Amino acid sequence: MALGLQRPWQVLAGLLLCLCIGRWAEAGKVLVVPMDGSHWLSMREAVRELHARGHQAVVLSPEVNMHIRAADFFTLKTYTSSYTQDEFDSLLMSHVHVHFERVHFLTLFLKAMTILKKGTLMFERFCEDLLYNKDLISHLNASSFDVVLTDPVYPCGAVLAKYLSIPAVFFLRSVPCDLDAEGTACPNPFSYVPRLLTTNSDHMTFFQRVKNMLYPLSLIYICRVSFTPYARMASELLQREVSLVDIFGSASMWLFRGDFVMDYPRPIMPNMVFVGGINCAHRKPLSQVSRSRELEV
Ligand SMILES: *[C@@H]1O[C@H](CO)[C@@H](O)[C@H](O)[C@H]1NC(C)=O
Repeated sequence: MALGLQRPWQVLAGLLLCLCIGRWAEAGKVLVVPMDGSHWLSMREAVRELHARGHQAVVLSPEVNMHIRAADFFTLKTYTSSYTQDEFDSLLMSHVHVHFERVHFLTLFLKAMTILKKGTLMFERFCEDLLYNKDLISHLNASSFDVVLTDPVYPCGAVLAKYLSIPAVFFLRSVPCDLDAEGTACPNPFSYVPRLLTTNSDHMTFFQRVKNMLYPLSLIYICRVSFTPYARMASELLQREVSLVDIFGSASMWLFRGDFVMDYPRPIMPNMVFVGGINCAHRKPLSQVSRSRELEV
């Protein structure tokens, strides 16, 4: 008899437990490897929303950085880096200053290239500080994350995801040198997909198409300098040949902060989703002045 009375409570308790566990099972553990600067400011809003929906986010950053500060909607995990904050700041300032210098175009170009090389070397070092930090890697490995959220413009997160065998979600505005199309084997015809910096539209004359083919060649050197180190690191860590295309092809999902309202249409793959407008979370109402002007018009 007593047993009979106990049962409904046991059932209820079991049901409650299931409900609670069900709620937890829905929540994921997200490892975030951001690109510093404005890139992070966009990604931070996505992390805020993940937190609001019950997911846990851990943001990884070198202790030396620009914008990545602790907040109550994620756990910040920093690691020691081989650069000091002063070195980081001075490189950043030289990058800003070079654009205001009144020098010959060629001098400016060479200076900009030197700074670019120094900058990419710094980010490469940051990535080494992370990937070759045994304690940190084994801690991350033991934390069993469900997914890595990362901006592939800094491919360190993609390499980390491969190293830890965790699916990666790319969150980006764009990557240079059509590495997104190459990585996903996405059709990308020169005849009507306008290339970066060409100012072409999706309707091109013959000569515009020629320009569309020639412009990307100038970027190839920059992409090689900036991205090849990550393929080297991935090959070293995984002990097999890993190419850049492998790294860029490793994402489960691509979330593009764009929209075909603003960009020309182009072929995309089924795992590419456009989330343009995500940065407009804090819309401000029009001021009274601009509203009355609008009415006059
Ligand atoms: C992560 O842990 C698993 C299981 O212990 C192990 O097989 C794997 O090599 C580890 N990966 C890394 C990158 O340490």
